[in-house]
Order: sequence, then structure tokens, then C-alpha cells
Amino acid sequence: MSTQTVNGQLLYLSRADVEAAGLGVGAMIALLETAFREKGRGRVEMPPKPGIHPKLDSFLHAMPAYIPAMRAAGIKWVGGYPENQARGLPYITGLLVLNDVDTGLPYAVMDCTWITAYRTAAASALSAKYLARPDSRTVGILACGVQGRTHVEALAGVFPVTRVFAYDIRREVQDRFVADMRARFGFEVVGVDGPKAAVVESDLVVTSGPILKHPMPSIPPGWLRPGAFASAVDFDSYWSPAALAEFDKVTTDDLAQFQYYRTVGYFQQTPEPCADLGEIVAGLKPGREHANERTMAMNLGLALDDMAVAPDVFRLANEKGLGTWLPL
Ligand SMILES: NC(=O)c1ccc[n+]([C@@H]2O[C@H](COP(=O)([O-])OP(=O)(O)OC[C@H]3O[C@@H](n4cnc5c(N)ncnc54)[C@H](O)[C@@H]3O)[C@@H](O)[C@H]2O)c1
Repeated sequence: MSTQTVNGQLLYLSRADVEAAGLGVGAMIALLETAFREKGRGRVEMPPKPGIHPKLDSFLHAMPAYIPAMRAAGIKWVGGYPENQARGLPYITGLLVLNDVDTGLPYAVMDCTWITAYRTAAASALSAKYLARPDSRTVGILACGVQGRTHVEALAGVFPVTRVFAYDIRREVQDRFVADMRARFGFEVVGVDGPKAAVVESDLVVTSGPILKHPMPSIPPGWLRPGAFASAVDFDSYWSPAALAEFDKVTTDDLAQFQYYRTVGYFQQTPEPCADLGEIVAGLKPGREHANERTMAMNLGLALDDMAVAPDVFRLANEKGLGTWLPL
């Protein structure tokens, strides 16, 4: 495609259209691997995300990125409101705009809820591919919301998962998660009574509760076993400073954004990340080096993730005749 704009129109994709486009999580992991390799080689443009914060622990973030090798350019405008669950609304909502790299014109606007749900889990799975033991079989999910679900799916695509331990502060959410995951996957899914039981026997641990500016972490040192990998998509909200200090390697997805978050009050007691995912995927820094290392991905969620996958969502949706064309 020489230019991505179609006859002065843009394609609007609702959440249902984005889902129906059918981009699989395995394909997303592969797209992210390309994007992070480009990032590691310094070939993407992605300024730290500016944000506004209408309510405590809420955010509205502007997330632009350009990945030349993927002809991907655009921005996500995404909100995160922890109290939305009580209103029957998703925690994460928003819109994503794709721009033609040659003309700058927008050619697609799409709901970003589904993309955010899956690309975050795909990024964790990509981190785990480089940082976890390949024979990891047990998964601990702490918080069984949208991210808990997509993480099970993404990790099961990369590792020979046999058992999932699930914990949510809300029992009914945990029970529904256990029932749904059992019905969907062939492995054992066990609901547990507290965070400890979801951590101690797990090779892969995902914490996906609310991001708190003033965290009250409940995972102490000594719970995570040697050789395990953890992904904290809720930043440092779940892991105590002493537990974070136990990791042999803490990594992130973007060092500049990690430093930026420090300046606005997050990660005050988190160890300095030893690498970002781009450096690891590009082979500039090592991933896992020993079977007994404890490794962590503290991924912040990048515009790069969204721009790596959204053009393929557009392409698939367009091929299937989904969405609504709108005049510019
Ligand atoms: N880093 C990233 O790239 C990225 C991207 C998207 C979302 N997130 C974050 O992931 C987190 C989860 O998002 P989501 O869309 O799954 O939200 P969600 O509302 O669907 O799920 C959150 C779940 O956490 C549970 N919970 C709350 N406190 C808990 C606790 N102390 N222990 C166990 N469970 C608890 C809630 O009952 C709920 O089921 C949020 O913090 C969100 O900001 C991060």
C-alpha cells in the first residue's frame, strides 16, 4: 500500500468490530517482537506519555508512536478508572487513531479496549519468552479481571501450562474466572483463598490489580520461588520493596518512561531495571541466564505495543468488510 488513506475516508471500528477482526494473541506476540527489536535498535519514535488525572488513581493518557519498519503511526487516548468496575464499566477504555505515514491523514479510528487488554498480555508473554524458564508450567494470577484473563491466554500460548492458581479480592469475580478458564482451557484452574497460595507454587506470576500511587503491597520476600518469573502490570502495587529486592533481574518495557514515572511519584522503592524489553529482544542485553534466577517484567504499557498491532487489526477488519467508513 503506497498510501494508507482510502478516498478521503476513515474506517471507524467499534469494540465488536475490533474483536471480530480476529487478530490472535500469538500473532500479536510476533508483531510485538518485531516492534521491540526495532525499539532496541533505536528505530522507533515514542515520546513519554503525557496524561491528565481527573480522579485519584485514574488517568487519561495520550500515547503516540511511530514504527517506520511497520509503517505504523498513530496515537491512543486511553482512560483507566479503577472504580469503573462498580459502575459496570471497563477499567480501561478509549480510542486509537492510525495515521497514514506518507500524508499524516487519519485512516482509522478504533475502540482501544480490546487492543489494550490483549497487547498488554502479549507484551508480558514476550517478556516471559526471554525471561522465564521455557518449562514453566504453573501460573499465579493475582486479580482476575480483564488482564488476568488475557494473561492466561497469552502465557498458555508460549508455555506448557498445566495449572493456574487464581486469586481476586472479590470472590464472585474469582469464581467466574475459574469457571470460564476451566471451560476454555484444558489445564487445571484452582481458586485460592489469598495471594500467597497464588504465588508460592507458581513459575509465572501475574499481578493485575489496580495501579495505586501509594501502594499497599501484600507480597513479602520469600514467597516467589527461585527460577520464577513475574509480570507486574499493576506496577509496584502488589510487590513489597523487600520482595522486589529479591529479584535477580527487574526489567521494564521502556527505561525513559520508567524514569519519568519515578519523577511523578511511582516506583519509589523499585530497583533500577537492568534492561528494557527492546534491548533484550535485540540481543543487546541478556534475558534469563540461569535456571534459578527470579526475573520480573515491570512493563508500563507502551504506545509502541498499540501501534505494532493496530494496523493489522485495521487490515483484517477491512478485509472482512467490518466497521463504518466515515468522511474526513
Ligand atoms: N502496564 C500495562 O501495560 C497495563 C495495561 C492495561 C492495564 N493495566 C493495569 O492492569 C490492571 C488491571 O486492569 P484490568 O483491565 O484487568 O482491570 P479489571 O477492573 O478488569 O480487573 C481488576 C481486578 O482487580 C481486582 N482486585 C482489586 N484489588 C485487588 C487485590 N488487592 N487483590 C486481588 N485482586 C484485586 C478487582 O476485583 C478486579 O477483578 C490495572 O491496574 C490497569 O491499570 C496495565
